[in-house]
Amino acid sequence: MRILIKNIRGLAGVYDDAPSLLRGKEMDKLPMIENAFLAIEDGKIALFGSMDDWGGITDWRNLEVIDAEGRYVLPAWCDSHTHLVFAGSRELEFEDRIKGLTYEQIAKRGGGILNSAAKLASMSEAELFEKALPRLSEAIEMGTGAMEMKSGYGLSTKNELKMLRVIKDLQKETGIAIKSSFLGAHAIAADYAGKRRAYIDLILEEMIPAVAEEKLADYVDAFCEEGYFSVAETMEIVARGAEYGMKSKIHVNQFNALGAIPELVKAGAVSVDHLEVLEEADIQALNGANTIATALPLCSLFLSIPYTLSRKLIDNNAALAIATDYNPGSAPSSNMALAVSLACIKMNMTPAEAINAATLNGAAAMELADTHGSITNGKVANVLITEKCEHLSFLPYSFGKSAIAGVINHGKVIKA
Ligand code: NIG
Ligand code: FE
Repeated sequence: MRILIKNIRGLAGVYDDAPSLLRGKEMDKLPMIENAFLAIEDGKIALFGSMDDWGGITDWRNLEVIDAEGRYVLPAWCDSHTHLVFAGSRELEFEDRIKGLTYEQIAKRGGGILNSAAKLASMSEAELFEKALPRLSEAIEMGTGAMEMKSGYGLSTKNELKMLRVIKDLQKETGIAIKSSFLGAHAIAADYAGKRRAYIDLILEEMIPAVAEEKLADYVDAFCEEGYFSVAETMEIVARGAEYGMKSKIHVNQFNALGAIPELVKAGAVSVDHLEVLEEADIQALNGANTIATALPLCSLFLSIPYTLSRKLIDNNAALAIATDYNPGSAPSSNMALAVSLACIKMNMTPAEAINAATLNGAAAMELADTHGSITNGKVANVLITEKCEHLSFLPYSFGKSAIAGVINHGKVIKA
């Protein structure tokens, strides 16, 4: 199958040789070719350039032509932080929060993550897969071309492995790039209440070796937060993951700044995620670091908590990514376009910065920047086509209704 997109008003995120990461001031640059064409072959980007240099079609075999007159084309979203595999929604907790309870109060009385874990325990692997697949299809339809997914609603060796196997099966079924993270340290399991050290030992001694044995996770994750896992416990889990070949992507600074970020940067974490609460030492640690600061604006919106100070991070030369955090408790949405809009509206990021954070830096936060996140010959053909608009900034501006009219995923036209 070959695809030619012609008469593109602006082809954004184009590089002959894409950088592996954008940080600081670089994030405001979104290289663009006006009046462009893009050719796709065998699921890969084959050629692009100005329409003035286009040679015309000589070979019509197996060719789908899309006329993108007046429309922009950009790389598909790279959603580097999700909990897409879960058993069920939690809208009653949503109601409780409206009535005044906080996320932490709901968790304390056995709701939150433990509620999701209880639901997941009684569900078979096949059933869990059946629930997750349409969610993934919906995300792809909205323009996500690569995704990270976490376990963390199992909280026992058996159920953590069950979640990670579902993630593997989603990858096999759809063929899209999926990275998986082991998040056994999401909460202390209910049957370990009052025995937190025993649960941490279970993670270190049984879960991580079992996950590694089956090669089920690319990364290790932990929820470093008051009432969940301390900095010292998080660092133990990071070190154990590293022993088994897993780098780390860590939930940190969501409600409290516990001081983990400088240590995580030093330990070579691929990303530190959430960051709704930041201290000066955290910002300094991320200055020039390879560890990516991942902001989750849909979680800030949904829980009514502060937005990550992205402006401050970028102005201090950090590399910033944006992801959805798609999960049933704090962000029940896989809408990356909305996350990009919120990055502009609530986090003062420019459209170029927000798009870069959701594409190339999202890819980098999954170590996929060699194959995803930009329009570069040889990269996977994951692209978005906007509706007709005068400027690319119409995309984040049009926040209630997505301005994405076309989606190509791995060289397949999902919609045009
Ligand atoms: O990233 N903060 C920790 N974990 C998830 C929420 C999990 C849940 O509430 O189910 C998050 O926001
Ligand atoms: Fe999360």
